[in-house]
Amino acid sequence: MADLVERFVRNHRLADGEEYRMLLECLKEPAAAEYVRAEAVRIRKKYYGKNVYVRGLIEFTNYCKNNCFYCGIRRENHRAVRYRLSVEEILECCENGRKLGFRTFVLQGGEDPWFTDERLAELVRSVKGAFPDCALTLSVGERSFDSYRTLRKAGADRYLLRHETADEAHYGILHPADMSLSARKQCLYNLKKLGFQTGAGFMVGSPGQTYQNLASDLMFLKELQPEMAGIGPFIPHHDTGFAKEPPGSVELTIKLLSVIRILLPAVLLPATTALGTLAHDGRERGLAAGANVVMPNLSPKKNRKQYSLYDHKLCEGEEAAEGIRSLRRRIEAAGYQLSMERGDAAGF
Ligand code: 5AD
Repeated sequence: MADLVERFVRNHRLADGEEYRMLLECLKEPAAAEYVRAEAVRIRKKYYGKNVYVRGLIEFTNYCKNNCFYCGIRRENHRAVRYRLSVEEILECCENGRKLGFRTFVLQGGEDPWFTDERLAELVRSVKGAFPDCALTLSVGERSFDSYRTLRKAGADRYLLRHETADEAHYGILHPADMSLSARKQCLYNLKKLGFQTGAGFMVGSPGQTYQNLASDLMFLKELQPEMAGIGPFIPHHDTGFAKEPPGSVELTIKLLSVIRILLPAVLLPATTALGTLAHDGRERGLAAGANVVMPNLSPKKNRKQYSLYDHKLCEGEEAAEGIRSLRRRIEAAGYQLSMERGDAAGF
């Protein structure tokens, strides 16, 4: 048992899904979990020192043509109050962020058909034109290779697209039949090929998830070699079929952050909002497990509540861009340095 953990820490990989599943079993042992956590912190320090990178998250549309069963802004949630920011509003969010020192903006939205390639590319050009020293990350779901190429050419630097689960059958529990894991994976390979710094990731404790599924997630991440990985606990949303499902475990999420840091040493790994939502000290615990990114919310205050992916999603205090000073205090109190650099992936 301990042998397996040791081998994982040494080689940054295991042989197969069964070994990854066993690794997660081993981490039920507190001493093993602590060993892996300490190793993850050592690796993060080696690649990124004390730096914690900041991304300003702009949730610019909550229209979505998809119907993912877990998500509060899915198409069939007719109670969601829909909004779409104008280019002017988005630029104003960036302006606010830039004044606070942000050098990465993440434009995240549902899969909103209003944003054709032309409109999105124009948006990307506007943001990059106005803030040439800032990195621009898109997170707008599945699109064609040509579409991604257009967005890359327009100046987008990075792209976040969580795979959600790397197990075919589990993917089918979380998504309607018109979505597929293979399409999702193809998008991620396309993004990598086009030179985006690419982020994949998954929810922890989503309905029906097993350790075997998580083992598949880890193997997929190892194969894809994303520059970024976003993981957070599943949290039920009251207007979804999963309203009565239990949330994912904060402890397991934290262990997985450490495992991912070891698996992909140079990965940019956020302590996510979902983690902060389930535990008041979730962000600090995420950082102490090997995470090195925080993503405060830069969306207009009037719209923040409307981007409701799950219940009680944090969008105030240190989760908000205007809370950057107290965020910095907390992060520095925990022994890190809040970096205002672009924070590209090491070696990219
Ligand atoms: N709980 C936790 N995370 C969720 N997401 C969507 N719905 C939920 C939920 N109920 C995550 C998905 C998506 C990201 C933007 O938010 O992983 O990729």
